[in-house]
Amino acid sequence: MYTEEKNELIHKGFIHFNSNIQAEIQTLNRHLIQVANNTFLLDLKNIDDLHLHISPASVNDFRLKMISEINQHKIIEDLKEKHAEFLQELLGRDLAMQKHVNLVLSLPNDETSQIPLHSDVWTGHSPFELNLWIPLNDVESEMSMFILPLPAWRNYSKKEEIKNSTLKKILKEINPELYYVKMNAGNTFVFWHHLPHGNHKHQFPKTRWSLNIRVKNLFTPYGEKSFGEYFVPWKKSELTEMVLSEKEFFL
Ligand SMILES: [Fe+2]
Repeated sequence: MYTEEKNELIHKGFIHFNSNIQAEIQTLNRHLIQVANNTFLLDLKNIDDLHLHISPASVNDFRLKMISEINQHKIIEDLKEKHAEFLQELLGRDLAMQKHVNLVLSLPNDETSQIPLHSDVWTGHSPFELNLWIPLNDVESEMSMFILPLPAWRNYSKKEEIKNSTLKKILKEINPELYYVKMNAGNTFVFWHHLPHGNHKHQFPKTRWSLNIRVKNLFTPYGEKSFGEYFVPWKKSELTEMVLSEKEFFL
């Protein structure tokens, strides 16, 4: 199962996964618009237009309220479930998932709402993780995220000069090889977050809304993002279920 998808992921370090979550995203977006209008007294009709209603200075408070709403919404469990079979095929039957779904809002012409070039492993994540990047609206070109494909990363990371380089220099050098995710809402970009990725300040007349949720095999190293606090068990095999039901053996 998922042979093609697995091959693509292993060769490129990412894949556009057809997660078929259009209905879940529509439900979520409707709810978020309603909360935005009620709580922040906006007249938002389409999430694409958020930048016309919220200033860069207040977008973080807005984002935190939306994160809280997203994590309380029951549709999130359905949305996660649409990825379960594929992720178990990739990572094994025992899975841990990020406890809270995160939301990034990327407003046009706003430097502060961007996430510059980075690898999640540089910021304390274990490399034994995949990131589910789920745009809530259609994304393309510079308003989307970019990533350096695995073959390009392998070539580049062998170079001696990378050791003393700065992020700015690295970005300049890898720029021609960056891949910008183009996809419609309703699919999932699954990527290995060790690969350098990020986004730029953009002039595209649209605010990007994207969720990110990390997932890993339950029994892999956790880095600084610890089990219980950052990750929680999500899927368990029968044996794991049996062992964990004996509380004194809890990881
Ligand atoms: Fe990241």
